[in-house]
Amino acid sequence: MGGIYSKGMLGLLALLQLTWHGQAVPLNSYQNLPAGISQHLPLNITRRAAPTLNQSLPQQVIPLNISDDASIRRAAATAAYSLQSMYNGNSTGGVLGKFPYPPFYWWLSGASWDGMLHYWLYTGDESYYNVTWEALVAQISETNNYLPVAEKFDEGNDDIAFWAFGAMFAVEHSFRPPPHPYPSWLQICDNVFNDFVTRWRAASDTCGGGLRWQVFPSSAGWDYKNSISNGGFFQLAARLARYTGNATYFAWAEKVWDWTERVGLIDEDFNVYDGAGIDGGKNCTSLDHTRWSYNVAIYLYGAAVMHNLTVPAPAAGTGGGENGSIWTKRTDGLIAAAERSFYSPYTNSTGVMYEQACEPGWKCNVDQFSFKAYLARWLADTTLMAPHTRATVANLLETSAAAAVRACTSTNAGAARVKCGAHWYLGHWDGTTGVGQALSVMEVVQSLLVNGTRPPAFNWTSLGGPG
Ligand SMILES: *[C@@H]1O[C@H](CO)[C@@H](O)[C@H](O)[C@H]1NC(C)=O
Ligand SMILES: *[C@@H]1O[C@H](CO)[C@@H](O)[C@H](O)[C@H]1NC(C)=O
Ligand SMILES: *[C@@H]1O[C@H](CO)[C@@H](O)[C@H](O)[C@H]1NC(C)=O
Ligand SMILES: *[C@@H]1O[C@H](CO)[C@@H](O)[C@H](O)[C@H]1NC(C)=O
Ligand SMILES: *[C@@H]1O[C@H](CO)[C@@H](O)[C@H](O)[C@H]1NC(C)=O
Ligand SMILES: *[C@@H]1O[C@H](CO)[C@@H](O)[C@H](O)[C@H]1NC(C)=O
Ligand SMILES: *[C@@H]1O[C@H](CO)[C@@H](O)[C@H](O)[C@H]1NC(C)=O
Ligand SMILES: *[C@@H]1O[C@H](CO)[C@@H](O)[C@H](O)[C@H]1NC(C)=O
Ligand SMILES: *[C@@H]1O[C@H](CO)[C@@H](O)[C@H](O)[C@H]1NC(C)=O
Ligand SMILES: *[C@@H]1O[C@H](CO)[C@@H](O)[C@H](O)[C@H]1NC(C)=O
Ligand SMILES: *[C@@H]1O[C@H](CO)[C@@H](O)[C@H](O)[C@H]1NC(C)=O
Ligand SMILES: *[C@@H]1O[C@H](CO)[C@@H](O)[C@H](O)[C@H]1NC(C)=O
Repeated sequence: MGGIYSKGMLGLLALLQLTWHGQAVPLNSYQNLPAGISQHLPLNITRRAAPTLNQSLPQQVIPLNISDDASIRRAAATAAYSLQSMYNGNSTGGVLGKFPYPPFYWWLSGASWDGMLHYWLYTGDESYYNVTWEALVAQISETNNYLPVAEKFDEGNDDIAFWAFGAMFAVEHSFRPPPHPYPSWLQICDNVFNDFVTRWRAASDTCGGGLRWQVFPSSAGWDYKNSISNGGFFQLAARLARYTGNATYFAWAEKVWDWTERVGLIDEDFNVYDGAGIDGGKNCTSLDHTRWSYNVAIYLYGAAVMHNLTVPAPAAGTGGGENGSIWTKRTDGLIAAAERSFYSPYTNSTGVMYEQACEPGWKCNVDQFSFKAYLARWLADTTLMAPHTRATVANLLETSAAAAVRACTSTNAGAARVKCGAHWYLGHWDGTTGVGQALSVMEVVQSLLVNGTRPPAFNWTSLGGPG
């Protein structure tokens, strides 16, 4: 995205009015609270307590029994429908692949299609398969690297990474290939990877490496090296390494991680900070220490993939990974950091995920409303690469999913049937709506199905083989 601020930085869009079907929705508005829902419901939900919760809340618009896969699928379908009701790319006046901008930036569309790919895989619902495929294809761009000319005004390396993750997922799960004359999804991911390598090298005059946030010097944010861009490069490199067995990708994943630690964007406790400026000779010496859930999440899944690549599969029953490589420690450390930073905002909401930098102050922007989606997504994906994290991660998903569905309302939701808010710890709809909110609810709910999901494939002969 563009503007003066990183997606992760506070400001610019914080006070933007949200709209729902053209009507302005004031933040912090409670007038549409469904009757009978208390604002002070206890939110300390355990797995066993969930049935009681459902019984006590018959008016909940998205019923969810976290112990029942069919119920989880129905809840995810409701959220997916709500999300897709905001998509206008396939109707007159829309742009194929894009949710309407403004207010939804291009990157958020890419992120949403990756969410829909996960929806397809986790639930088995094919309803949006073709819409998702069409969207991913539409934005590949003429140069086959998710660099569409129309988005040059605000294209960041992170934006491209979020689209490339959709393409990478398509590789890993044999999603329908792009039509002629496009190259394969894998070739497109390799193109994006090599663009990152080129841009890293071009930016190596400062900070001893690191991708700048932005692709083009004309964009605000050019003088900023941030975790989401470098984390995007890191995760893509790790996934390409695992899929192809090509050591070039592996070496870059190591290099990006090492750089991120060296400049302090990942600290010794695995906290991940937003970024560092290179304006005025700063040379990454002064960090923006804001923590955002998507930064820890993007490194987490990359670390889990590296763990999977470097640790032999554990013998049955051993739990796995405990003797592990440094990547096992990083994976576990990042999960612990996520739990410390993005859970349990108040004593009445133990175990509920929240965006600590903006939710309590009611200042999240349109991008930031979506960040919990990626934390949920990559926590779940992590368990496929590092099965020893399953129980820990389940705890980080279940309470949040139970809280998330309560952030939705059917009041005035129109054709969307339900609309969802962002502040899950409230126990009711918060008066906001948008792509990020619906995506987050959908992803945290569908992530509960991860145990029944096949892990991403690999094919060591697909692009050069072990190199
Ligand atoms: C929990 O406490 C916070 C802060 O006091 C409050 O805003 C929120 O509404 C409470 N949530 C519930 C479910 O009562
Ligand atoms: C949450 O509930 C569980 C189970 O009832 C209880 O053991 C735990 O102490 C509670 N946590 C808080 C912070 O209230
Ligand atoms: C939730 O699902 C479990 C497993 O299917 C079932 O045993 C339980 O009765 C369900 N709870 C409710 C309230 O339906
Ligand atoms: C939750 O309760 C509602 C209303 O009683 C019921 O219709 C629904 O089937 C329940 N959902 C689950 C998943 O148990
Ligand atoms: C357009 O997208 C919506 C939302 O995904 C979908 O429901 C609808 O079927 C699509 N229409 C066509 C013609 O593909
Ligand atoms: C999806 O696309 C495939 C291939 O073009 C087509 O065969 C199928 O009928 C489409 N499905 C739907 C529901 O439109
Ligand atoms: C900038 O930082 C890098 C390492 O982060 C260091 O190698 C380089 O010497 C620094 N450059 C200046 C001009 O201080
Ligand atoms: C860890 O190492 C110990 C001692 O060598 C061994 O007994 C155990 O099986 C190993 N665990 C795993 C998961 O490899
Ligand atoms: C790597 O991933 C596979 C597939 O999910 C899994 O079976 C295996 O246990 C993982 N390896 C480690 C060391 O966690
Ligand atoms: C997945 O399975 C593990 C046991 O291997 C269990 O602890 C965990 O709760 C399950 N996760 C979910 C989301 O159901
Ligand atoms: C692996 O990649 C090779 C080369 O692209 C291809 O011929 C082969 O069909 C792939 N195998 C699988 C299982 O996808
Ligand atoms: C591995 O990937 C890199 C980066 O795309 C490529 O340059 C190299 O040729 C590949 N190695 C082999 C053995 O194909």
